[in-house]
Amino acid sequence: MCGIVAYVGPKDAAPILLEGLQRLEYRGYDSAGVVVSNKGLKMRKVKGRVADLAAAVPARFKGTVGIGHTRWATHGVPSDVNAHPHLSNDERVAVVHNGIIENADELRAKLEADGAVFLSETDTEVLAHLIARTVKETDSLEEAVRLALKRVVGTYGIAVLDAERPGEVVVARNGSPIVLGIGEKEMFAASDVAALVRYTRQVVHLEDGELAVLRADGFNTFASDARETAKEPLTVDWEAAHYDTGGYEHYLLKEISEQPDTVARTLRGRLDERFNVAHLGGLNMDARETRSFRRVKIIGCGSAYYSGQIGAQLIEELARIPADAEPASEFRYRNPVVEADTLYVAISQSGETYDTLAAVQELKRKGGRVLGIVNTVGSAIARECDGGVYLHAGPEVSVASTKAFTSTAVAFALLALHLGRVRDLSPADGRRICEGLRALPDQIKEILALEPQVKELAEKYADSPSIMFVGRVRGYPVAREGAQKLKEISYVHAEAYPASELKHGPLALIGPEMPTVAIVPDDELLDKNLTTLGEIRARGGRVLMVGHRVADPKLADDCLIVPKNEVELDPILLGIPLQLFAYHAAVALERDVDKPRNLAKSVTVE
Ligand code: G6P
Repeated sequence: MCGIVAYVGPKDAAPILLEGLQRLEYRGYDSAGVVVSNKGLKMRKVKGRVADLAAAVPARFKGTVGIGHTRWATHGVPSDVNAHPHLSNDERVAVVHNGIIENADELRAKLEADGAVFLSETDTEVLAHLIARTVKETDSLEEAVRLALKRVVGTYGIAVLDAERPGEVVVARNGSPIVLGIGEKEMFAASDVAALVRYTRQVVHLEDGELAVLRADGFNTFASDARETAKEPLTVDWEAAHYDTGGYEHYLLKEISEQPDTVARTLRGRLDERFNVAHLGGLNMDARETRSFRRVKIIGCGSAYYSGQIGAQLIEELARIPADAEPASEFRYRNPVVEADTLYVAISQSGETYDTLAAVQELKRKGGRVLGIVNTVGSAIARECDGGVYLHAGPEVSVASTKAFTSTAVAFALLALHLGRVRDLSPADGRRICEGLRALPDQIKEILALEPQVKELAEKYADSPSIMFVGRVRGYPVAREGAQKLKEISYVHAEAYPASELKHGPLALIGPEMPTVAIVPDDELLDKNLTTLGEIRARGGRVLMVGHRVADPKLADDCLIVPKNEVELDPILLGIPLQLFAYHAAVALERDVDKPRNLAKSVTVE
């Protein structure tokens, strides 16, 4: 998805902007551009990579204030002209924009009637013309931006330059993130902290409706009614090194491999041996309130939704509270019934997914109590929720989620333990779960050691036109995420089904050309699962079983055996070999593993 970087200070802006844009490459984009101010605006923009842009920027491209952008096409094809920044006709104002202006056509018609000449097909260009018209009247860039934005319907994160005010950048946010970075006599802004951490750890997140003016010596923030707002800077603990591949061939493999450590970080300081409970200080709820919920509703998108399904199962089993998960993108549009005795939990790695954020806002508006399970500290969803659990998994760069998915499932185990232990979960069961959780990091190491075997299996199965993934009850969300991972990064069609439902339809698909990956944990449903394997094999289907015991060769062609934990926690471990499977299938098929086609890391538009 699009990225924004802005700089104002004593240094040459272009190298800083290009570096920042490089850090945002992982979000996915198709074109890039920069503009600096130095006795007028100097701009370069190209369809292609940031490296192509860097090659197009001449040595004389000097200026100590500037803005840059990576674009992911929405209105108009990827092209040099449609790339951002966009300039006003007098070349006084430059704008970069993330998000979508919904009334762009109407504004464009009015501006054209007023003499504006549009060069691009983008919705963004209307902003440049609108701001240029008001800046002449108000002689204040921030006021001009504020007035222009009043006429706009839609979502935006923007950065604006005015050639007549070379010491200033104005940024604003509505639905699309903008973070300010505070340096030594210099200021930065970006749509993602990834672009800032090389320069500063002191950041300020803008709220929706807020606007900020950045100068080398500081910044001011304003609400949409022009009132000045007070902001406390936050220190981010993510470092530039987190954004390197660290010697791995891909971010995805690095992030899969980090999981012993990231899971340990999600657990750190949260397990209490004395009472066999979980301490989750960020929930902001006392025991009485924690007991009062009669239902848990979990929302998230993509992999976050699937980890929510694992979470719902954990909460039902350990706390005996009815729980279910639903895609946030569906939930927000169906006018959900919001009840006071339901605990809502929103999940997001980025904390910026627009559908999830909008669902949280809708819930809050209706008086719902919402917790967030979020990886990015200070992100929009984290700020919007009443309390929550941070994953502490470090930044996730590869588009497909792995370590955040696993850490979310672990956070749900902690939440389920917490909710269970104020209800009927016995101290003995509490101890069993605490010990199981503590064993996870070492068991993940054992699973990672299976990589050569998983690679061989992935290469064996990767040329199938389609792969079925099945699992029962606890295994079903694992199967769904396994199928999702494979589709996303290898483009092999994969379908996930509850193993119990296979005979009610999809069994018709099974044959020698459609293998099945079956999640078969050693639990009370083992026999039922083995029966399903028999049904698949009887139709000539090949079976790769992922579980705890080698199956009879009559039931499975291949078995991947992972360490056993407590039955409730096994899904957390069973998902990890499927991440490696998808990764090696994608590598075997020579896919762009970290940046799969058509996808973005965080989807900040509707
Ligand atoms: C996008 C990504 C997915 C991710 C989903 C939710 O679709 O491609 O990998 O699971 O967004 O992202 P979030 O940041 O809210 O967890």
